[in-house]
Amino acid sequence: MKKVLVTGGAGFIGSHLVDALVKKRCYKVTVFDNLEPQVHTDGLPEYYNIRARFIRGDVRNRKQLKEILIDSDIVVHFAAAVGVGQSQYQIAKYVESNIQGTANLLDVLVNEKHNVKKLLIASSMSIYGEGLYECKKCGKVKPPLRNLEKGEGNNWEPKCPYCKGSLKPVPTPEDTPLISNSIYAITKKEQEEMSMLIGKTYGIPVVALRFFNVYGPRQSLSNPYTGVAAIFLSRIKNNKPPVIYEDGLQTRDFIWVGDIVNACILSIEREEANYQVFNVGTGNPVSILKVAETLIRHLGKEGKIHPDITYKFRKGDVRHCYADITRIKKMLGFKPETNFEEGMKKLINWAKRAKAVDKFEEASKELKKKKLV
Ligand SMILES: NC(=O)c1ccc[n+]([C@@H]2O[C@H](COP(=O)([O-])OP(=O)(O)OC[C@H]3O[C@@H](n4cnc5c(N)ncnc54)[C@H](O)[C@@H]3O)[C@@H](O)[C@H]2O)c1
Ligand SMILES: [Zn+2]
Repeated sequence: MKKVLVTGGAGFIGSHLVDALVKKRCYKVTVFDNLEPQVHTDGLPEYYNIRARFIRGDVRNRKQLKEILIDSDIVVHFAAAVGVGQSQYQIAKYVESNIQGTANLLDVLVNEKHNVKKLLIASSMSIYGEGLYECKKCGKVKPPLRNLEKGEGNNWEPKCPYCKGSLKPVPTPEDTPLISNSIYAITKKEQEEMSMLIGKTYGIPVVALRFFNVYGPRQSLSNPYTGVAAIFLSRIKNNKPPVIYEDGLQTRDFIWVGDIVNACILSIEREEANYQVFNVGTGNPVSILKVAETLIRHLGKEGKIHPDITYKFRKGDVRHCYADITRIKKMLGFKPETNFEEGMKKLINWAKRAKAVDKFEEASKELKKKKLV
């Protein structure tokens, strides 16, 4: 049996991967997680799979990592601080957890005794900044981040950086230049680059998966800093309108957590994945307004709750970004299986029973105080 270590394995995505690995019966799974209180308000989550060994530890602690890595064949590194907005003012914490944490892991892999033969890293679509667009005159272009001041409310769409003409969003492939728009994004980019560099230098196969917007059961409904679907759900469940920035027509690529798990397993098991970076999304853009409307409809609150469209700009937000998944399709045979409507229904079935403390207003106040909205 191969021994897999999943850092951050008590979290949303990690716990689903742990379940799938345990189910395959050919892996012995260990989770290493510090049970970050903002994510795990009640300690070890009730969904935790007792067939996986649990070690409470922190990736910021090199000594703990050294002890656990001695006994691992495969490492899946998911432990991270994950709030984009929050990363803009808790800078040291995000850098320590995400960059220093990964540095500790790599330092142990290079300097200590271990059996690790593969490292899977969770990267993020946020490292692109704006997605890729097409200008009729100039072809494919990558516009810079928007810097909208109050009163520019109707000009949400980025313009061509060369001719100032209008742009059409197109799928974003892996070789698109990276323009990070938050400390979180910078940390994810560094994680990816440091891991790939050290992996190639020392012959340890690394795979970096750039997850797009992941949704599904176990997403924290009480953590107001992550996951727009979860934040909206928590609001609607508490009979409050979901709050939308801009006009709601900005788009993202929402991918069901089960599809993410499939991509992770393919990356672990296929040699073709070694030293590759893959987008993991669906390739289909969905507007934020549609997410809000779909959730309201499926929760039976149509006519009772209406999305609150604020026409406000949140600094650093991108207008459109969705995945080009040609590479992972061709190289690993990956195909997303759950479409948006089906996924949303499954999400809601779970959410009906899940605890949702609406902390949106607190979080929103904090962002305002830090001048980010
Ligand atoms: N959810 C998404 O849409 C998304 C998108 C792109 C990338 N990602 C990446 O996927 C990974 C998993 O994200 P998630 O959505 O499951 O988040 P999550 O917050 O549910 O899970 C992260 C886990 O890491 C743990 N953790 C945090 N800091 C730690 C530390 N210093 N030491 C040990 N454990 C620590 C937390 O307790 C938590 O269990 C992260 O690396 C995240 O950056 C997620
Ligand atoms: Zn142009």
